[in-house]
Amino acid sequence: MAELIHHAQRQPHRQNLCVMSEEVRPVVVLVDDDAAFLQAATRWLEKENFVIRTFATAAACLEGLERTLPDVLCLDIQMPDLDGMEALERVLSVHPDLPVLMLTAETSVLTVVEAMKRGAYDYLSKPLDRTRLVTAIRNAAERHQLALRLVELEREARGGTFDGIIGRSTAMRGLFRQLDRVARADISVLIHGESGTGKELVAAALHQRSARSKGPFVAINCAAIPESLQESELFGHEKGAFTGALTRHLGRFEQANGGTLFLDEVGELSLGLQAKLLRVLQERRFHRVGGAAETHSDFRVVAASHKDLRDEVAAHRFREDLYFRLAVFDLEVPPLREREGDIPILTAYLLDQAAKQIERRPPKVHREVMAIFAAYAWPGNVRELQNAIMRAVVSAEETLQRQDLPAHLRQIRVDSADPPPPPAPAATPLLDATQPVPTLAELERHAIALAWQQTNGDIAAMQDMLQIGRSTPYRKLKDQGLIA
Ligand SMILES: Nc1ncnc2c1ncn2[C@@H]1O[C@H](COP(=O)(O)OP(=O)(O)OP(=O)(O)O)[C@@H](O)[C@H]1O
Ligand SMILES: [Mg+2]
Repeated sequence: MAELIHHAQRQPHRQNLCVMSEEVRPVVVLVDDDAAFLQAATRWLEKENFVIRTFATAAACLEGLERTLPDVLCLDIQMPDLDGMEALERVLSVHPDLPVLMLTAETSVLTVVEAMKRGAYDYLSKPLDRTRLVTAIRNAAERHQLALRLVELEREARGGTFDGIIGRSTAMRGLFRQLDRVARADISVLIHGESGTGKELVAAALHQRSARSKGPFVAINCAAIPESLQESELFGHEKGAFTGALTRHLGRFEQANGGTLFLDEVGELSLGLQAKLLRVLQERRFHRVGGAAETHSDFRVVAASHKDLRDEVAAHRFREDLYFRLAVFDLEVPPLREREGDIPILTAYLLDQAAKQIERRPPKVHREVMAIFAAYAWPGNVRELQNAIMRAVVSAEETLQRQDLPAHLRQIRVDSADPPPPPAPAATPLLDATQPVPTLAELERHAIALAWQQTNGDIAAMQDMLQIGRSTPYRKLKDQGLIA
């Protein structure tokens, strides 16, 4: 319950306390029916700066693991309520990438081999001393965090996008990192973000990266179905259940069997349906409308809302217990205005997309338009940018200009449409045997100013000319005061 209590208090960053990001302390879960061992191990590991969660039974652990993202799990092979192998398998079905250390009383080679075959990371034989336990857990936690870091580096090397989600800003990198962490774990995720930030893309990426990716991705917009139909839409109905129910209809819960159910705008569900949804999530069983027999469906829930559901809970418009069921992991999609540096790459991407749609070549974009895009706050986020670009591509000729933009963007004043006059090139050549040797910094400044002049401030051309990385010229031009 501790995490629920933490959760209810407002955190500066909306993140469940049970979820640790890489800079934060790794979470270790210990499962053993030996209370004395749990106590000692907790003391040792807490001194080493780990966050510890303990469970005395396998069942409690499996329940708890649906609500947490640990870095390491220590599992006693002999639990009173469940065979260790089965417990291991069930843990890994929820957290396939989690390093699991099996704890054994006596080293039975066969059991250990069997556990490793089934995906355990390592084993530790009891009695355990402090050093062995701490070292093993530290290694496992490091390995887990390194594996995540590797995934992140690979993604960045491929250009930084995540399943079609474009973004290189610090804010988006943070989101991708959390996606890496949570996508493969079979736990509920609540996506929060302003309208048009890409919540649906994030939900689709969660599905794509999960073990359920071969199953269906069923999206339901809770705001768009009339309340009278919500129930039959979700639960399905039997033939003749109500006037107009001419055939049996499978509800979204059933359609999502084996896959992911995306509940978009979940904050719009009526209180009555919230209660019913909660029951389904707890029991995974329900009745079709007008049906006598119980139906079962196995799906992962990903929900999204543009409202802060905690405010809705506080205002008694959203059930708190349902909120905790949905928000096991809480992902915040940042608004576009907080994604510094993403607008140029998003513009290029959306421009290509728009041009393809109307079968024309993407126009060039005038510098002034880029300045307007950078200055505007984008209350409608990426969707608004996408719409503005679509509209502009339709009206633009060779180059997309201010007049091609929607009226409210067209009116935005930006400092200067033209690049500042380039500084005069040095009167004397920099590399002159009779002159003092310039510093490398001077040479670089000179080269950049010259490239700026010769390319008319075209950043892409400067990158080619100077053979430098994509992000470099912006920074250096800034340093030199050539751009604001
Ligand atoms: N980072 C991104 N990279 C590429 N395309 C994006 C990105 N973010 C959003 N989009 C595009 O912008 C549009 C809006 O995204 P999406 O529908 O996922 O947003 P949303 O948060 O669900 O918005 P709403 O609250 O309005 O439903 C979609 O066409 C999507 O493909
Ligand atoms: Mg949406």
